[in-house]
Amino acid sequence: MQHKAKVEALSLDLASLRSVQSFAEAFKGRNLPLHILICNAAVLGVPWQITEDGLEMTFQVNHLGHFYLVSLLQDVLRHSIPSRVVVVSSESHRFTEIKDSLGKPDLNLLSPLKEHYWAMLAYNRSKLCNILFSKELNHRLSPHGVTSNAVHPGNMMYSSIHRYWWGYRLLFALVRPFTKSMG
Ligand SMILES: NC(=O)c1ccc[n+]([C@@H]2O[C@H](COP(=O)([O-])OP(=O)(O)OC[C@H]3O[C@@H](n4cnc5c(N)ncnc54)[C@H](OP(=O)(O)O)[C@@H]3O)[C@@H](O)[C@H]2O)c1
Ligand SMILES: *[C@@H]1O[C@H](CO)[C@@H](O)[C@H](O)[C@H]1NC(C)=O
Repeated sequence: MQHKAKVEALSLDLASLRSVQSFAEAFKGRNLPLHILICNAAVLGVPWQITEDGLEMTFQVNHLGHFYLVSLLQDVLRHSIPSRVVVVSSESHRFTEIKDSLGKPDLNLLSPLKEHYWAMLAYNRSKLCNILFSKELNHRLSPHGVTSNAVHPGNMMYSSIHRYWWGYRLLFALVRPFTKSMG
């Protein structure tokens, strides 16, 4: 039997809160239910850059953009139960904290100035944000039938995530025979 599905693409730039907002409006305009929302996008190893919203790119794309998207679509998720959110995080979240040198949580670390930016650290912190977000979302929405889970897809899987820095292109190519493949 042949299955037929109508697939429609809408553009979304997570580095722009305005784009996230227009995506959410366009989606809501379709009056479709939303049963599964996968927050998968990420950048790794990008040079320090500030988005149009004045935030560091890795933080905004990997965490804040998804956070805003889910917030805007929360009512649709709640009207579509059973529904779920899946946040693609990483084991990398275990390697970091969002605390200052005295051990106090410091949210300024999430969108650092250029002199304090280290791409790998920013990525790891954004993946920790993914986990914290997913846990809290599940806590708040699961009583209403919307669940949220975070996943680690596998270590150094050959995707396009290495594209932003030559060092990662080399590293991912070297380990490719030993890691999980997409297929
Ligand atoms: N690969 C691994 O070993 C690994 C390990 C642990 C966790 N992960 C996680 O797995 C997830 C998927 O990564 P991947 O390895 O499949 O990397 P990928 O091939 O680079 O896929 C990342 C996706 O993010 C999208 N994206 C980047 N910037 C965006 C933006 N500003 N707005 C909207 N979308 C944007 C990209 O879209 P375009 O192609 O259109 O730019 C791309 O489709 C990520 O959350 C990553 O942290 C990967
Ligand atoms: C980031 O996470 C990786 C594991 O994916 C770890 O090897 C690395 O030391 C961490 N780096 C920082 C700066 O947190």
